Parts: sequence; structure tokens; C-alpha cells
Amino acid sequence: MTSFAQPQFKIISSTHPVSAEKRTEILNNPGFGKYFSDHMAAIDWTRDEGWHDARIVPYGPLQLDPAASVLHYAQEIFEGLKAYRHQDGSIWTFRPEMNAARFQHSADRLALPQLPTQLFIESIRALIGVDAAWIPSQPDTCGYIRPFMIANESFLGVRPAQRAAYYVILSPAGSYFGKGMAPVSIWLSTDYSRAGRGGTGEAKCGGNYASSLVPQQEATANGCSQVLFLDAEEHKYLEELGGMNIFLVRKDGTLLTPQLSGSILRGVTRDSIIQLAHGLGMKVEERRITIDEWRDGVNSGDISEVFACGTAAVVAPVNMLKGKGFTCGDEQAPAGKITLALHKMLTDIQYGRAQDKHGWMQRLA
Ligand code: COI
Repeated sequence: MTSFAQPQFKIISSTHPVSAEKRTEILNNPGFGKYFSDHMAAIDWTRDEGWHDARIVPYGPLQLDPAASVLHYAQEIFEGLKAYRHQDGSIWTFRPEMNAARFQHSADRLALPQLPTQLFIESIRALIGVDAAWIPSQPDTCGYIRPFMIANESFLGVRPAQRAAYYVILSPAGSYFGKGMAPVSIWLSTDYSRAGRGGTGEAKCGGNYASSLVPQQEATANGCSQVLFLDAEEHKYLEELGGMNIFLVRKDGTLLTPQLSGSILRGVTRDSIIQLAHGLGMKVEERRITIDEWRDGVNSGDISEVFACGTAAVVAPVNMLKGKGFTCGDEQAPAGKITLALHKMLTDIQYGRAQDKHGWMQRLA
């Protein structure tokens, strides 16, 4: 068994890297999740050997047996974090130990092996070490880092796989919704739930996202960027969007966000916003919030702003909630002041424009 007290990644360099010219063209207009760097990190796991063969290899297709468990029973988890290029050229990431902890939590829920935090962070550092040139430097761009783990044992019995593989891929990225801080409309799903009590809602697993796609299609068909899910039992309480947490802002400046109920994701951005708001002396209520509270609050003026947040989109102002037979909000309304201020505070820390008083940033290269 290989010891990972001091992780060492064997490096196998790509023999066909993207040309510098093509890479520059991509970095000038990266979009989101469309392009990938020249390499990826990989580590194998077996029940007998544990984690072994940590390596950086050329980015490319994976070889999977058609009977691999992930293809049949969706035994898979992932994470999302970012690499930010600071003005002096150095590259940093944000609270990676939180993503590592959530990855371990997701692994527990999906009966996958836990990847130690140090190995999670080292895998990212090793990949950025070889592909630093893929981190763009224009305002609001970054390298989107996607660690994931799949069960790759060839076995059709339904039980936890005895083989798994972990990978990290890197994708240069711009704005998630493609329109910067322009407010988005949200679709309220009344026919579907994202997760139920005891389900996998708190785990970052592909299945949660697969089940959000039909309601997301409904959202798109109704001119909305994202879908909002309510709780599965009473269909009354806010949970989260297809891939983001949600905040309401009261006119007295209080932030409201659904409590971590076991069925929503422990968002790193969510947690950071709560800490920043506390630092500003704002009141934050993490509790159950009904959809009526949102609608009545917007209609009476008590709720003055709404925003969604997540690693990919950071903070996305929401000016409209639509559902079957109802609308709430104003599609013309600009982003709210508190939303913009929290977005600025967070991104100023991430891009090295403001002092990192919380010790959230870790240098990668
Ligand atoms: C993220 O914000 O990293 C997400 O999980 C959203 C999505 C791209 C899956």
C-alpha cells in the first residue's frame, strides 16, 4: 500500500497539448465547462490496497468496463471549486478543506471510500502545477476545478463497489449564466422534489443533478435560468435550486436562508456569505422558510432582494419567481444593493483584491 503522508504524483506529460495560440483563444472567451486543460489528476482505490497510483496524466477518455458500477447504479460523487489568478500572477483557491470535507461526507453517503483532505488538496495542487497556463486572468474568470470519484468495479450485484477511481479535471471558466451580475428568473417546481428525508440531498452526487434535469427543462421552457425545489413532504418550505443555495434579504437587512436540513447541500459559498454577513453585523436566520413567506414578503416589500449562490455562479441576483399560475417579483428590477455588496466582498477576497481576514485562501502556484 502506498503511503500518502507526503503525496507524490507521478507526472506523465501530454504529447499533444493544445497550442499556446489556441489556448489563448479559449482563455479569451472560456464560457463555462466547455474546454479542459491538457492534463488531469487520477488516483485509484481498491478495498485491499487503499488509495494508490497518484498521477497526473494527459486529459482524455477514461476506459471503463461496460459493467462498471457507476454506469448502472450511479455510485458517483463530485465537487466544484475554483482557481483564481491574482494580479501578481499567483494562483489561489478558496476554502478547499471545506470541499474536501463535503467530498468525504458525500463518499460516506454513496458508500465510496473517503479521500483524505491532504490528498484532495495535493491532487489539485499537482494538476495546477502542470496546467497553470490554463488559468485565465481576465476579470471574473477562473479555473473551475472538478474533482470526482466513480465506482469502477465490474460487477452487476447491488453492493458497494470494491474498486473506485478519483479524478480531477480543470476547465477555464467565465460567468456561469453568461450574463455577469444581471438578475435571473427562477422557476418554482411544483411537480418535482430534489430530495427527501433520508435521501441523498446533502451529498454532491450526480443522481441529484440528473433528477433536476426535467424540472430544469421546465424552467428553461418558461424563460427561467434555474429551478427552485420545495421540501418533498409538505411542498411548502424552500430547499435549494438545481445547483445553488438561496437567500432572501429583508428590507431591514436580515438574511434568510433555509437551514441545513439534511436534504440540501452544505454550500461553501453559502457558509462564506453567512460569515461575511455576520462580520458586517447583519442578522442571519437559518431556518425553515415557506414559499408563502417569499411571495408575501416580496408583495408587501418586506423582502427587498433575493439571490442564489454557489461556487460556479458565485452570487446570482434573482428578480423574479415564476410557477404554474403565479409570478412574483419584477423582471426589470436590477440587482439589489446587499446582493451586490456581498458578491463584491467575496470576490474581492477570492481575487486577492481584499485582505483575507478569515484565512480562506490557499496558494496553489
Ligand atoms: C457549483 O457551484 O460548483 C455547482 O455545483 C453547480 C454546478 C455547475 C453543478
